[in-house]
Order: sequence, then C-alpha cells, then structure tokens
Amino acid sequence: MYDRILIVDDDDALRESLELILSADGYHVLSADCGEAALDVISESSVDVVLCDLRMPGLDGFDLIPQISCQMPGTPIILMSAHGTEDLAVEAIRRGAYDYLAKPFQPAEIRLTLRKAHEREQLRHQNELLRRDMSRSLGDRAIVAASDGMIELLEMLERTATYKSTILVTGESGTGKEVIARAIHQQSPRRERPFVAVNCGAIPENLLESELFGHAKGAFTGANRAHRGLFTEAHEGTLFLDEIAELPPPLQVKLLRAIQEEEIRPVGETKSQQIDVRVVAATARDLTREIAEGRFREDLFYRLNVVRLEVPPLRDRREDIPLLVDHFLARFRDSLGKPVRRVSDETLELLVAYSWPGNVRELENLIERAMILTDGDVVEASALPSVVASPPDQPSVADVDSNEPLALKPARQAFEAKIIRKALARTDGNRTHAAKLLEISHRALLYKIKDYGIRD
Ligand SMILES: Nc1ncnc2c1ncn2[C@@H]1O[C@H](COP(=O)(O)OP(=O)(O)OP(=O)(O)O)[C@@H](O)[C@H]1O
Ligand SMILES: [Mg+2]
Repeated sequence: MYDRILIVDDDDALRESLELILSADGYHVLSADCGEAALDVISESSVDVVLCDLRMPGLDGFDLIPQISCQMPGTPIILMSAHGTEDLAVEAIRRGAYDYLAKPFQPAEIRLTLRKAHEREQLRHQNELLRRDMSRSLGDRAIVAASDGMIELLEMLERTATYKSTILVTGESGTGKEVIARAIHQQSPRRERPFVAVNCGAIPENLLESELFGHAKGAFTGANRAHRGLFTEAHEGTLFLDEIAELPPPLQVKLLRAIQEEEIRPVGETKSQQIDVRVVAATARDLTREIAEGRFREDLFYRLNVVRLEVPPLRDRREDIPLLVDHFLARFRDSLGKPVRRVSDETLELLVAYSWPGNVRELENLIERAMILTDGDVVEASALPSVVASPPDQPSVADVDSNEPLALKPARQAFEAKIIRKALARTDGNRTHAAKLLEISHRALLYKIKDYGIRD
C-alpha cells in the first residue's frame, strides 16, 4: 500500500476527518488547506498519492494536477468534489487525475479508491518492466546452440513456427524458454506484428482477466474508460503467456474458450470480438502433476500442448557451454566496456564440469561477475565463485539426476572423465604428471583421454 498521503482541502472538518481515518489505517498523512500550501508540502517532502479537492480559492484541483505531475511525475492524484457530475469526473481524468471521488463519501469508498489506484500503479510498473525487457532482448536475440538437444529443438521450432498452432515451451528455470518464445515469433509470418509477453504469476488475480481480455467502460469501480486487453494488443501477432501454471482456474476456462473460438469477451461487455492471435505458453512446472493435483485443467493442457518444445537443462547439454561463454563475453565486453577476450582453459574446464542448477541465466550472471573481477584480458579461475571453482571431489548420489538412468558404467565413465580433467588442469596438461596423480599408467591415461573425448 501507499505510505505517504497528502490531503488538500479548504474544508477543515473534512480534512481533519480524512486525516483521522487514514492515519488509523496506517498512512503517514500530510495535509494542506489550499493549493499553494500543497505545493509547499511537496517541495519539502515526497508523497506517494495526493487526495485533492477540486474547488478551492486560489489554485484549484485542476491547476494543481500539472504542477504536481511536474514535481513528482507518476504520483497518482485523486480529485474530490461535491459537484459530482459525470462530466466533471471525465474532465478530471482527461486532465491527468488518476481517479475521481464524489463527496460525500464513506470511508470504505476512499479505501477502495486508494487500493485500486495502488494496484493500477503496480500494473503499470510491471508492464513497463516487461516492455523494457522486450526491447533488450530484441537487440540480442541470438540463440546459441551446439548440442544435439538444442539443435533438434531449433529444427522443431523452425518447422512449427510458421503455423498458428499453440506451442507449449517447458524447461527448468533459466533454460531459455522466453528466448525460444521470441524466436518462434521471429520465425513466423507474424514477425512484423506485435509480440506481447505477460507473466501470469506477476499480475494480481483480480486484474488478470481485464489485463488479458480488456474491459468495458464502467465495468467495475475505477474502470473509467474502456481498456484493450493483451489479446487485442497481440492481434495478428503472438501472445506469450509465461508461467501458465499460475493462471487461476476460472481464467483457464476463459483462455481455453478464447483459443478454441478465436474470440474474446472483455469484462462488462456483452458482445464477443474476433481475434487472430498465436498463443505460446511456458512453464517451469510439471503440468501433468498440476493436473493430477487438480490445479490445472486437462482440456486446456491438451489445447496448449499441440506442439511441445522442451528446453533441456544446461547440465544435459554441456557442449553449449563454451559457445554460451563466448556469447556472454562478447555481450558484456560491450556493456561493461572491458577488453576481456577469453576465459582460461582451467576456467572453461570448471565451467563445463559445473552442474548449473540455475541454467543459462546462472551462467550469464556468473560471466558478468567474473568479468567485473577481471583486470587483464583473460578470466582466471580465481574470478569464479567457490561452488564452481572447487567442486566436491566425491560425487554424491544427490548429483544423480532423478531422470538419469542408474546404469553404473556411464556414471563411472562420467566421473572418471571429470577427475581426469581435474588432474590435467592441475598439472597444466602434463600427462605424465597427471597419470602419476591418478595412480594409473601413462598408457591407460592416453587411452581414457581418447575414449572420453577429453580435449587438451
Ligand atoms: N540458447 C541461448 N542463447 C543465448 N542466450 C540464452 C540462451 N538461453 C538462455 N539465454 C539467456 O539466458 C537468460 C535466461 O533465459 P530466459 O529468460 O529465456 O529463461 P527462462 O527459461 O524463461 O527462465 P525462467 O523460467 O526463470 O523465466 C536470458 O538472459 C537469455 O538471454
Ligand atoms: Mg522466463
């Protein structure tokens, strides 16, 4: 909720009763008995929201709107007036007020208005973040892929992107689901039309329906004008529904209908509208489990799962790691302005061996941090965090992925390869010394190096 409220009214009794109500609600209340006094207050301290009377001698509410917005851009101003006509309310909003309250009002009304203003403010903030996020990755939309798993995935993406069919992108957190969703849009005939991303888990449940499908003017308190939903924004383009498992059940029904019928009905509207939108959904959750536990509708799952793109965790496609490292080095070389050219062999070895629970995002963050810590042009292992730089010597059963087959031979080979790499790193690639460390013959080591495809 808001913290600091400024009340501006020339009616002493009303101002005092508002002060009482709102301080009891926990707000820090500042007050002014005229427009001039209000400007004095905001020149001295910041406020989060302004409740302002419309008719006052001297500077009135309409005069104050531009002055307050100029000093504290984005601060919502709620105008109050006893001359409550609808025209006046519209005029207030047209002039930049956030909302309008007709006097006299009940404490409950003022609380509701403040809450709505706050929620809309949050929503605006989230949309701003989404948009910023979008423009960043548009300038940098390369997908790095060398592993069989990723190349197969990209082939599948290419084949399916051109159709309108719904695509479900799954994978652990940080694997690149959003990157994939944007690539689908870019490879589709819709690429010139909007790509609209929405995080279903980040928008309060009571706002999500009108965010997705829009609302009519007057559909609910605070709906001062009609609002185009994200489906409409994405018309002829792609709508990316991130964290789809977070979608509340009533909206799951509405989404299913929207996809099936290709039409939407805004909140408070009686007529449906045709839409042409390609839906891409993503989740890090196991949807079959969500279905089994009654949180996700099976029919919606089948509708979304027409094409499934499963992004493998980074530990299952270690061949991508050296390329991703180069990709991020190049990116941060520009943004950090540091002439770091490469990572040392030992560093790369450690990076390839690490388990990456946070996947590509973790790698990205790690490279950025390591570059900040690097003075020369090579990233040394000393710039790595200790979880990566000193891996545990003993493998533990916890290292075994629950999906991995439990056969001993490949597990032993993977472990041997890891230890051999370590021994080679510690001896600067000297095989004779490494063989000694490993307590095996020189020949046995050469054989294993070849067998496991360990590069020098
Ligand atoms: N194959 C790739 N090539 C280049 N960059 C990648 C690749 N995969 C992921 N990234 C980068 O890694 C970061 C995480 O990717 P993204 O946000 O798409 O992951 P996500 O699966 O949506 O994660 P979350 O589940 O946490 O939302 C991004 O900065 C993205 O640019
Ligand atoms: Mg994501």
